[in-house]
Amino acid sequence: MLIFVMRESYVNKYDVVQMLLVHKNKTPAISSATAFAPTNIAVCKYWGKRNSELNLPLNSSLSLTLENKGTLTTVSVIEEKGDEIILNHEKVPASASFFKRVSEFLDLFRFDKNIHFKIATSQTIPTACGVASSASGFAALTLALNKLYAWNLEDKALSILARLGSGSACRSLWSGFVEWVRGSREDGMDSFGKPLTFSWPELHLGLLILQTAPKMMSSREAMALTVKTSQLMKNWPAKAAEDLTLLKQSIKEKNFKAFGEVSEENALYLHRMMQEAYPPINYNIAKTHLMMDKIKKLREEGLALYFTQDAGPNLKLLFLKNDALTIKKYFPEVEIVALFK
Ligand code: PMV
Repeated sequence: MLIFVMRESYVNKYDVVQMLLVHKNKTPAISSATAFAPTNIAVCKYWGKRNSELNLPLNSSLSLTLENKGTLTTVSVIEEKGDEIILNHEKVPASASFFKRVSEFLDLFRFDKNIHFKIATSQTIPTACGVASSASGFAALTLALNKLYAWNLEDKALSILARLGSGSACRSLWSGFVEWVRGSREDGMDSFGKPLTFSWPELHLGLLILQTAPKMMSSREAMALTVKTSQLMKNWPAKAAEDLTLLKQSIKEKNFKAFGEVSEENALYLHRMMQEAYPPINYNIAKTHLMMDKIKKLREEGLALYFTQDAGPNLKLLFLKNDALTIKKYFPEVEIVALFK
């Protein structure tokens, strides 16, 4: 009798790095390198992983890059016995989860086990409160490492490497609209960001920061719990695919009403999924509800205003340039950020 044993072909992060860096430098070419990466806000969210080691998503997603908001990171080789991380001018203790996460990412590029790095990173966005700080953070670190080692990697490879740090980081390498194509390969070599060719200079985004305290649960944990326990998650991949098609169509036609409606509905569905998880995850604070009601009321009065929301209580307003002054009048605390160069 013949017995077929299925060999499970498992690809880990180190295999991906090996594949992308074949014939590339394994020792730093210079002692220090600096890079900036902008942050991005998804209008069709990435939620749920089909492979959590490689951050491979269940669905394709679409984001808008915030040109001047992001992370500036310097990576230097140091003669110490461990890494050193400085976040916004303050030393991060080695026991902090942030330190662990960054250091684990650096392990992927520690070809000589005795090499250690100093990472000095500063962010022009609040850290860990749902304004996509990890996206620009891991993208900037990837770009800085690319310079440090003089790899000269193409964008696709950089996007895949950034994704290994944080999924949404793979969309933080371009301006404007960026689609993260889900891909289907087990090694994730077809899952990376791609800029859309459409520009929409009239489209504006306003950051409505309602709370800067770190969020109560990381998006990583919230994502895992939602996938495991939320019934609504079952419909998510199909819904996200449908929303993505509608969004791309609305961008092509510059149909702001359709764009705003689909973006807002996509974010609301994300939060419904989380609230339906067990135990329920609720990122909203009282101010979030107040602002949502205000947006709804203004819209009923004729203002073309929509919002999107990530894994945190803060909102991002979506509107057109012509309404910028009106938005500033109703939301004096809003920070309007540049989207298109
Ligand atoms: O990349 P992560 O693990 O921080 O997850 C990002 C999740 C959302 O911001 C909520 C959605 C998205 O597509 O950016």
